[in-house]
Amino acid sequence: METDGVRRVARCECAETQHTEQLIAQSRIPHRYEQCAFENFDIRKDRLSGQANLSLQYALVTAQKFVDEYPLDYGLLFIGPTGVGKTHLAVAVIRELMLRKNVPCLFYDFRDLLKEIQDSYNPVSQTSELRVLQPVLDAEVLLLDELAALNPSDWVKDTLGYIINSRYNQKKVTLITTTLPFGEAMARETKLQPSGEAVPDMEKTLNQYGITFRSRLYEMCKVVEMQSDDYRKAIKQAAWRFHAE
Ligand SMILES: Nc1ncnc2c1ncn2[C@@H]1O[C@H](COP(=O)(O)OP(=O)(O)O)[C@@H](O)[C@H]1O
Ligand SMILES: [Mg+2]
Repeated sequence: METDGVRRVARCECAETQHTEQLIAQSRIPHRYEQCAFENFDIRKDRLSGQANLSLQYALVTAQKFVDEYPLDYGLLFIGPTGVGKTHLAVAVIRELMLRKNVPCLFYDFRDLLKEIQDSYNPVSQTSELRVLQPVLDAEVLLLDELAALNPSDWVKDTLGYIINSRYNQKKVTLITTTLPFGEAMARETKLQPSGEAVPDMEKTLNQYGITFRSRLYEMCKVVEMQSDDYRKAIKQAAWRFHAE
């Protein structure tokens, strides 16, 4: 291309589309979550009052604002019970970052990551685990999904600590989802909500990885708490009822 006698390189639209498609293909978003977007995130309006679930509405607005304002120097920590849409919203964030801003993003289920590191471990060279870890350390935006918190072993704590520390030092953005321990096992030691469910104890969940780790996460991520019942259960069960009627 030539403007005012100066030759410039113009990137054609199709090359950009190709680049975005490549980013999405390399992001490892699981098939099940490929369609997750802000547009199809339901803020669960009450049928009678029309009032949205405020925590979901706040979570959606925070996620959208995050994409609008990116590049930023902090990430998001989605926390709440199973099935409220934490992974849905976190995936929507990375999809939008790739589609709108061409930001390379990487999705990793935390348990899958641990398994892959273990499988890659080579007792002779002791170096191959970096093959799995390096892209996780280097990703511009990492989504670490389902940070499990049930009695992590020292190895799990060390591995997570290493990833988080290294990303912290490189000032890289990390998005995390974690499920709060609801249910009977916790109920004995925790306060109960009027519904009889245990009050989620975020501090306790994160403390299992150590106090230093917890405060580092708070420094790196904005906490987004999501409160609702299990979406799959509510929607699927309503559909079954509809079919039965
Ligand atoms: N508020 C919501 N709006 C639309 N879909 C939702 C919502 N919450 C959950 N889902 C859908 O229900 C399923 C479970 O949600 P998920 O994000 O995996 O929950 P979590 O990660 O909180 O356990 C997914 O298929 C997701 O797309
Ligand atoms: Mg999830």
